[in-house]
Amino acid sequence: MAAGMAAALALLARGGGPARALPFGCVRRLHTVYQSAELPETHQMLRQTCRDFAEKELMPLAAQLDKEHRFPAEQVKKMGGLGLLAMDVPEEYKGAGLDYLAYSIAVEEISRGCASTGVIISVNNSLYLGPILKFGSEEQKHKWIAPFTGGEKIGCFALSEPGNGSDAGAASTVARLDGDEWVLNGTKAWITNAWDASATVVFATTDKSLKHKGISAFLVPMPTAGLSLGKKEDKLGIRASSTANLIFEDCRIPKANLLGQLGMGFKIAMQTLDAGRIGIASQALGIAQAALDCAVDYAEKRMAFGSPITKLQAVQFKLADMAVALEGARLLTWRAAMLKDNGKPFTKEAAMAKLAASEAATAIAHQAIQILGGMGYVTEMPAERHYRDARITEIYEGTSEIQRLVIAGQLLKAYRS
Ligand code: CAA
Repeated sequence: MAAGMAAALALLARGGGPARALPFGCVRRLHTVYQSAELPETHQMLRQTCRDFAEKELMPLAAQLDKEHRFPAEQVKKMGGLGLLAMDVPEEYKGAGLDYLAYSIAVEEISRGCASTGVIISVNNSLYLGPILKFGSEEQKHKWIAPFTGGEKIGCFALSEPGNGSDAGAASTVARLDGDEWVLNGTKAWITNAWDASATVVFATTDKSLKHKGISAFLVPMPTAGLSLGKKEDKLGIRASSTANLIFEDCRIPKANLLGQLGMGFKIAMQTLDAGRIGIASQALGIAQAALDCAVDYAEKRMAFGSPITKLQAVQFKLADMAVALEGARLLTWRAAMLKDNGKPFTKEAAMAKLAASEAATAIAHQAIQILGGMGYVTEMPAERHYRDARITEIYEGTSEIQRLVIAGQLLKAYRS
């Protein structure tokens, strides 16, 4: 285990103060319901650490953050101190030096406490730091990674545009070389972390005639002249994370800010999203687990027809289906993470994980409300927030339809080869 993370784990193990009372409907997990003896000891410790952090620092706050659309700056800084902002980044660049399985476990546990916080750290880890770690020069790694590992600064990833989301190869944002500078023009849309970010990886067309092979990736500091933010989107869920357009108007950046080779941007985006999808699958697992916890807790206490409603087969059948969908999705997610950790191809597996976990999250959050009845529909209980938070996991970092396209494409390729 990385020394930094070990110290952080030890620090947390000493406790972060007394446990606060959780809001109505949020459940403290004293034990793990699902079997995970197969996890290495480091990962089990990490999971407990993240779970404790989520229950002490995030669950009590999540409803308020959601209501006020408030970025959890203090909590993000604390998570930076624990290494959760740069989990698979080597220690030489100030990361935790762990692996993607650890990252998946951490994002799940953090998202169980607050799904908005889950996506904030997922975007920084996978979408911002990921491509720099993989494609950046040594100089770029030191400059653009290290300051983004401690929670003081976070990054974002600008690929989608108002006119193209799923068709990522149709970027209309352009970058033109002018002497020693790139000049960027265009608008990027739906950018998670936009209002709170200090840098972005951005994709722009450098040669339109080459279509997707004419897209390149750039590193842009924020704020910077020629780059403005659109309005903060008023979203259904994950409301504590900011989402906005990035508008480039003759935005000049040094020539040295090209990430990877010229024309390599589409491949960088696709490979980054492969990894990012493991993060979103993990976020979905956390939301689903929180919804299931809430449903079980409520059903054990709610009396109907003379006994707790967990005695009713109608409720038991729902709980069983929710648990199967969740655990199946978790296994797919861990498998994708482990394939990545072992240097094996994982495009199809990451898409399967994201598809299964996001659809499980929306279905489980839906059924949790059904079990809670009217209490599931009001903001006194967290079930309605889980339902709202779950929905985006089927949309960002590739819709469920795009995941099916990726899976079918890979499957057919394997059959034909
Ligand atoms: N890894 C490496 N290379 C890949 C790849 C992968 N996973 N997927 C495709 N490629 C390569 C192909 O091999 C091909 O290479 P050549 O040109 O050398 O042959 C090239 O990329 C083009 O491939 P396709 O013809 O398959 O590309 P396409 O235009 O048909 O698009 C797609 C494929 C899967 C639909 C892709 O566009 C896609 O994933 N779209 C969804 C985009 C997405 O997820 N957007 C989310 C934005 S991020 C976000 O959500 C914001 C946030 O802040 C959270």
